[in-house]
Amino acid sequence: MKKDAIWITAPRDMGAAACTFQKSFAPAKGKTVKKATLSVSAIGIYAAHLNGARLGKGVLAPGWTCYKDRVQYATFDITAQLQAKNTLSIGVGQGWAVGYIGYKNCNHFFADHTSLIAWLDVTYTDGTKECVATDESWEVYNNEVTFTEIYHGETVDKTLSIKKLGHAVRSDVKTKLVAQVGEDITEQERLAPVSYFVTPAGERVIDFGQNMVGYVELTIKAPRGARVVLHHAEVLDRDGNFYTANYRTARNEITYISDGEEHVFKPTYSFQGFRYIELVEYPFDEVDLDAFRAIAVNSEMKRTGRYHCGNEKINQLYHNIIWGQKSNYLDIPTDCPQRNERLGWTGDAQVFCRTAAINFDVEKFFEKWMGDVAIEQDKDNGAVRGVIPVAQNHPTRIAAAWGDVACIVPWQLYEAYGNKKLLKKHFPIMKKWVDFLHGFGPAEYLWLGGYHYGDWLAMDAGEDSYVGATANDLIASAFFAYSCGLVVRAGEELGEDVCAYRELYTKVRAAFREYFVQDGMPKDDFPHTEVPLIPGVSTPVDTVRKGITQTGITLILHFGLCEESERAALAAKLVELIRENGNRMTTGFVGTPYLLHALSDNGYADVAYTLLFQEKNPSWLYSVCHGATTMWEHWNSIKEDGSFWSTDMNSFNHYAYGAVFDWIFGVSSGIKPTAPGYKEVQIAPHPDKRLGFADASIDTRNGTVRSYWYYKDDVVYYEFDVPAGVTAYVTLPSGKKYTLGGGSYRFAE
Ligand code: BGC
Repeated sequence: MKKDAIWITAPRDMGAAACTFQKSFAPAKGKTVKKATLSVSAIGIYAAHLNGARLGKGVLAPGWTCYKDRVQYATFDITAQLQAKNTLSIGVGQGWAVGYIGYKNCNHFFADHTSLIAWLDVTYTDGTKECVATDESWEVYNNEVTFTEIYHGETVDKTLSIKKLGHAVRSDVKTKLVAQVGEDITEQERLAPVSYFVTPAGERVIDFGQNMVGYVELTIKAPRGARVVLHHAEVLDRDGNFYTANYRTARNEITYISDGEEHVFKPTYSFQGFRYIELVEYPFDEVDLDAFRAIAVNSEMKRTGRYHCGNEKINQLYHNIIWGQKSNYLDIPTDCPQRNERLGWTGDAQVFCRTAAINFDVEKFFEKWMGDVAIEQDKDNGAVRGVIPVAQNHPTRIAAAWGDVACIVPWQLYEAYGNKKLLKKHFPIMKKWVDFLHGFGPAEYLWLGGYHYGDWLAMDAGEDSYVGATANDLIASAFFAYSCGLVVRAGEELGEDVCAYRELYTKVRAAFREYFVQDGMPKDDFPHTEVPLIPGVSTPVDTVRKGITQTGITLILHFGLCEESERAALAAKLVELIRENGNRMTTGFVGTPYLLHALSDNGYADVAYTLLFQEKNPSWLYSVCHGATTMWEHWNSIKEDGSFWSTDMNSFNHYAYGAVFDWIFGVSSGIKPTAPGYKEVQIAPHPDKRLGFADASIDTRNGTVRSYWYYKDDVVYYEFDVPAGVTAYVTLPSGKKYTLGGGSYRFAE
């Protein structure tokens, strides 16, 4: 049982090498085992084996939590595998908890050595029980993984003679062990190489045809001592050479040293984000592509959404969005899976959450991560920081649209899955965040000042700016209102008394309008507020501070911060800004998810489609036209001339802009839940001839909803499937409305 086990560690400093903890065990003679389970956790990453066979389908366990407060353990049923004599052997490598983590390159963030805890519970048919748990009797061996880091890769030395290092020693780990909440991280697709070539610089490169996260598996028989060294890359540079500068300090290097025998080898404690590998060292002149496979790895989530339309570029965009999600839902929602970051950026997580919940069942995935959000939320004031689990050697900013994850994710999960219990669990997090905003800064009902990420990577403040032109104060105060409104809606669903929040919302909205809006338009000149809230890091990021921007107007429209009578003029202004910019957007992380909604909600679905079909930078299809297989971090991560937008902020697998799928699915195909968990749905498609047809469906908690429309000449035909027990409110573009129960329906107009 758990209480019998102690945390143990190696008797010597392992540095960045893995080690193996071993224990032999024989069930009591003359008794029959009824049930045997093994529970395991580690500070680091573990790989458990019983009698030589790997246990469970999960990899990279126990995943990433706020280690100081909780670490997950998994329980394996080993009844069938138990023999008369058994050897339990558990390898442990550094992982997130011990190795380098964060863009500040912080080593030993949580602990300076790996630790293991495990307990094997046996119940015999006579009712007696036995437990074999980690203690100082376990033996420790060195491990063929002589180096392992999340960012830097792994070295496997097959020539290493495995020796006993001694007995385990007690490790002083102070954290709570919790049964695994999240999904297993598992191996998914196995991709064969699509080509092999030598670059102009002479690099031997294999292309797997798909940017992804995971690792390469290599089947190899090479002379003893022969080395294989692999480097990874997402893209080639404009000359066709291998490009790794965007990984920043992350080496992503895999080394294999052969013992002369044939082995199938892949990393155990590390993962890479890549499409290409370079054979930096390889012992053969001929490259046998059959020996290489790229294995995609991510949290196991059931696919729920499907989409196919008549435009191949949009289909590729959808493909890129799916792979962006898969690559970045690896136990926590990360910003990107390859450079020295791979962090739980809260802004990125909230931006993409609704799309994520269309594509896959992400309830359990987010339940686990929101548990860490709750833990990391400031106990005294409710602040939520930019990265969770906190992983830097300095705290990230408390920023608008990032901290608002506290309200946005719980609400979107509730809309998608209708799980009241979960909403109730998240409700205190939501309230605390809004309480924090209420007490923040110089104005009671506005969020002024502070240190934000602004409209991150927007295009309207100059080519090289990381933040857009929209004023931080406007963004922050708009999100204050939005989050407060979500607390009211959540509270109403839960039957909580939310009078105070309703009143607060009214005041925040009024204050917003007074400070930022004049004659129904955002002001372009309001005072600049600088508040040194975080000593040392209080410099506001924005230098251009505008209200009349695509993002500014989008937020006002989408968050309902305008009067109904002001909508038409605001939407017309938004369209004007888009047209002035050559039918292109300028929005960044903050404005982009809502931009197309702001247009189609206000009568401009055609303009939304024009943006969707735009191929010039900035646009969703720009990256598609430039060969992307996942979403890019920056609209033009690769510029027209083939050069890179930047080296330090240029991921080719950043899902944030993939949030547009929420519009493609919810507006173009028209499927949206109107009651939590899709118990009631709206089907209000917005067909457009340029798309030809669109076939979208989602497996919801209440069955499968499908919307399919296609053009034949100028007539649009519709097919809708509504599951039994669900009410669908259909609105066709002509304005005709139908209330439908379960069944399949056809319309034409
Ligand atoms: C990340 C982003 C994140 C941002 C904060 C970046 O380094 O990759 O996606 O949200 O920092 O603005």
